Amino acid sequence: MEAELQQLRKAALVEIQNAKTPSELDQLRVSFLGRAGALTKLSEGMRNVPKADRPVVGKLLNEVRQLIAASLEERGRSLQAASDLEGLENLDETLPATEARTGALHPLTLLQDRAIQILRRLGFALADGPDIETEWFCFDALNTPANHPARKESDTFYLPDGRLLRTHTSSVQIRTMIMAVPPVRVIGPGAAYRRDEIDATHLSQFNQLEGLYVDRVVSVADLKGTLTFFVRELLGPKAETRIRPHFFPFTEPSFEVDVRLPNVNHGRWMELLGCGMVDPAVFDQVNARRGDRAYDPEVWSGFAFGMGLDRLAMALFGLPDIRLLIENDQRFLAQFAE
Ligand code: DAH
Repeated sequence: MEAELQQLRKAALVEIQNAKTPSELDQLRVSFLGRAGALTKLSEGMRNVPKADRPVVGKLLNEVRQLIAASLEERGRSLQAASDLEGLENLDETLPATEARTGALHPLTLLQDRAIQILRRLGFALADGPDIETEWFCFDALNTPANHPARKESDTFYLPDGRLLRTHTSSVQIRTMIMAVPPVRVIGPGAAYRRDEIDATHLSQFNQLEGLYVDRVVSVADLKGTLTFFVRELLGPKAETRIRPHFFPFTEPSFEVDVRLPNVNHGRWMELLGCGMVDPAVFDQVNARRGDRAYDPEVWSGFAFGMGLDRLAMALFGLPDIRLLIENDQRFLAQFAE
């Protein structure tokens, strides 16, 4: 039996060294070490080995088994290394690398950031408010009567508990005044919601930027100067502005500002924002809620403005459809990468 073991060892090592592929190697593993393999068969002969010789023969059997297993393993590794090397030989390191695409800011974010930066230079601080508002913050405090069309079920998203998705960011004005005493200079960029049918120029969620300026002796001249400067900084020196009377419940007098740029909106006037002098009735509402006279209309005056960003982005970037702004189409968005 010892002789047979030695012979098997020799034959196995030679065959393993000659194996050319991983599958050949697998077959050898089965034929030597498998359940019905040569070594298993030999080990069955142990029964006939005289008792005294068993320890020696048993030890040899184990050694041969370990040697074959180690040799299979080593051959496996060198076959793998050879095939790795072959793969590398086919590698063309002169091929250009796959381009790594970097992210980019969304066009609306670009526009909003620009607007915020200009207004921050003028001393406006960022303010915030919740998208889900109460009727008081969205309408009542802003002097909007109960029968105003904006308050209708058909125009506004109401929650079952009576709260609503804010229809404008003007609620941020009230949130600010409840929290802080004058003078205040804040801007509140954010989402607003209306129950509009979605089409090429309407979304049910859009973006506004609100502004509020309250101080002693603020005049329409301050409003006009601030907003014309803002528009020129935002849209460039070629932008013309025009201010015309309008109505908003929360400002008196109220205006709308239009802009005109060569090559934008076919050179026609477009509505940019609503604005006006804060109505004393709004200060009264705020004082009542605060329980003080912090916003005494005899002492404090102010102006406010609110602009929509989506339509402006459409005009500036020449977008034919407002839905491009929310569809996340890479082909569209990639054009704004710098
Ligand atoms: N909230 C108005 C809107 O959504 C815009 C607006 C007009 C805001 C006049 C103001 C303002 O702050 O003074 O149409």
